[in-house]
Amino acid sequence: MSDSALSIGLFYGSTTCYTEMAAEKIQAQLNSLFDEDIVDLHNIKDVNLTRTAEYDIIIFGISTWDFGELQEDWESHWEEVHGLDLAGKTIALFGLGDQLGYGEWFQDALGMLHDAIMPSGCNIVGYWPNEGYEFTASKALTEDKTQFVGLSLDDENQYDKTDARIEAWCEQLLVSWLNYLIHLDISVGK
Ligand SMILES: Cc1cc2nc3c(=O)[nH]c(=O)nc-3n(C[C@H](O)[C@H](O)[C@H](O)COP(=O)(O)O)c2cc1C
Repeated sequence: MSDSALSIGLFYGSTTCYTEMAAEKIQAQLNSLFDEDIVDLHNIKDVNLTRTAEYDIIIFGISTWDFGELQEDWESHWEEVHGLDLAGKTIALFGLGDQLGYGEWFQDALGMLHDAIMPSGCNIVGYWPNEGYEFTASKALTEDKTQFVGLSLDDENQYDKTDARIEAWCEQLLVSWLNYLIHLDISVGK
């Protein structure tokens, strides 16, 4: 066990629990990598987004609904999202979508959330290659269209890939955070 006081805040919105299930898997994976309970889960239906102020490292989870729209809890907090003071924070994003059912709007909300927090001066990590997906269009792609702006999960069509994707993404995050952790002089459990 590490004696670090580091904690990671994972804030998500989820209508039919898929994003919630992914959030729990990400929490378990990161806790195991750090060898301690380092991730606090917050469903934004119940918790005010101003609680992000408590964390330097944040993960946001969002699903896309209704042909490219925000998940309902993110939608009702959308004004708040734009007003958050996230300057200097390290933020990673993940999204849930359905690439075959909604291939013209795949993961759009992930892209909208990315664009909403970008101007705050936060440091966004955890971009994810778009290989291995089939879709027509997405607002969640980087400018060169080679990556999603966060981990892209599709439990409708690729449920069997979710665990491996989460595992690889969490390891990728760990590398991204390393500089930050060294900077804070905080020891990592493993
Ligand atoms: C009515 C409906 C509309 C949807 N619209 C989209 C969409 O526009 N783009 C997309 O990628 N996925 C879309 N999806 C798929 C959801 O994002 C997917 O089911 C996701 O896992 C839901 O996550 P949640 O239960 O955490 O909200 C839609 C699903 C439903 C049922």
